[in-house]
Amino acid sequence: MFNHLAAEAERLKTVSLQQLMQQDRQRAQDFALRVGPLYANFARQHYDRKALDTLFKLADKAGLGEAMQRLVDGEKVNISEHRAALHTALRGDISAAQAAQAAHREAQVALARMQALVESIHADERITDVVSIGIGGSDLGPRMVVDALQQTHARLRVHFVSNIDAVAITRVLAGLRPENTIGIVISKSFGTQETLLNGRILRNWLNDDERLYAVSANPVRAADEFGIAPASILPMWDWVGGRYSLWSAVGFPVALALGMPAFLELLKGASAFDTHALSAPVTKNLAMRHALTAVWNRQAMGATTQAVMPYDQRLALMPAYLQQLTMESLGKCVRCDGRPVEVNTSPVWWGGVGSDCQHSFFQALHQGSEIVPCDFIGVVCPGHSFDKNHQLLLSNLLAQSQALANGKACADPHRAYPGGRPSTLLLLDRLDAFALGHLLALYEHSVYLQAVLWGINAFDQFGVELGKQVATALLPALRGESPAEDAVTAALIAQIQEIDS
Ligand code: F6P
Repeated sequence: MFNHLAAEAERLKTVSLQQLMQQDRQRAQDFALRVGPLYANFARQHYDRKALDTLFKLADKAGLGEAMQRLVDGEKVNISEHRAALHTALRGDISAAQAAQAAHREAQVALARMQALVESIHADERITDVVSIGIGGSDLGPRMVVDALQQTHARLRVHFVSNIDAVAITRVLAGLRPENTIGIVISKSFGTQETLLNGRILRNWLNDDERLYAVSANPVRAADEFGIAPASILPMWDWVGGRYSLWSAVGFPVALALGMPAFLELLKGASAFDTHALSAPVTKNLAMRHALTAVWNRQAMGATTQAVMPYDQRLALMPAYLQQLTMESLGKCVRCDGRPVEVNTSPVWWGGVGSDCQHSFFQALHQGSEIVPCDFIGVVCPGHSFDKNHQLLLSNLLAQSQALANGKACADPHRAYPGGRPSTLLLLDRLDAFALGHLLALYEHSVYLQAVLWGINAFDQFGVELGKQVATALLPALRGESPAEDAVTAALIAQIQEIDS
């Protein structure tokens, strides 16, 4: 399926990105798409109209349009676990299919329950702080959205704890008083060791089960293990993947931090993008363009990593959030049918917030031996009133993408910039809940569509299980109760025990 792409890449090997831009100046306009408050410009990608056409044909051949429909209709797109992935039903009534309708109805009931809880907690003047315990998809999304949109004088301060390293929870609890705090334990499975351990610490510290809430697809375990009252447990479902679950009650901390209207705006923004991704033709479809560009860079241009740089402090946690979304979804080496994938799948996703990262890893982006495609994310209207800071931030954002693409010749090789380094520029009109919903839905759909193009399952994550099992099995050896079977691990445990004794 990728033969035509390889031919296009071969043709473009001798045409630099700088040449492509000079030969076709109209691409600055024509390679841009807008969906509501989200504008995207792909003019600095190393492809031309002919290569793009080949990508559009690939999209048709892979059936991206049909794949989007299957997703929102609630077909079992998570093949290995025989599950639907109905995150779109959490945020809108987008499909008439029976499974999607049923999911949407359940989601609405859960939202109403969540709203009632948010209102009663907001109304309780004693409560000033919320501690949310969860990890991975039960942490990264809500943490990032709260950090992005929180107001300086919000009604409640929301703190997140994920790491099993108890330094995290110790630091958070040190600044709080149990009588003014509520706790939320978020875990789809309610079987995640980090969350259960931290949850128990929180529960003991609170010393009042009435101020403990849970979000889980396993309410029985939440009630049994933590004694949480059924009325304080919000549901999740097996048809929502952890890293796609922000839109469910996993967003409870978001609603507490920002208020329910803002959370509903987030859902509305994402759902508006869903409608676009589902209905726009491939040539105008931003989710498809983003996915095709990712596959082009990985497959045709051989990029091994992909960087993402939000130029807005409020989006500083986006790279961590996107790492889980992309790499847990796309880091697969077998196809949906179990056969090996014969192409390269997920690149390593990494990044940092601009302009900070310009002073750390940008050297390698400009002059390193490896070409790293970049997603730059900017916000037109600032979140503050310091105009000079914002202008400088935006000029840096624009400058980096321009300099990476154009480079600069110099007789001294140390001072020469090769250029030809591709990037996509994503610009939000402003950073509000509606716009952020668009941006996150774009990445979710792009990831799913990349998986469709590669023939892999975006919704399972068996790769993370083995390490968890080994960690549990090693506990007796670490406690000195039994020997470790693996020679290297045994030597390491001996070292630990020697220092620890
Ligand atoms: O790390 C694997 C994983 O299963 C993620 O996919 C998930 O988001 C996270 O653990 C947390 O899982 P849970 O919500 O079940 O605690």
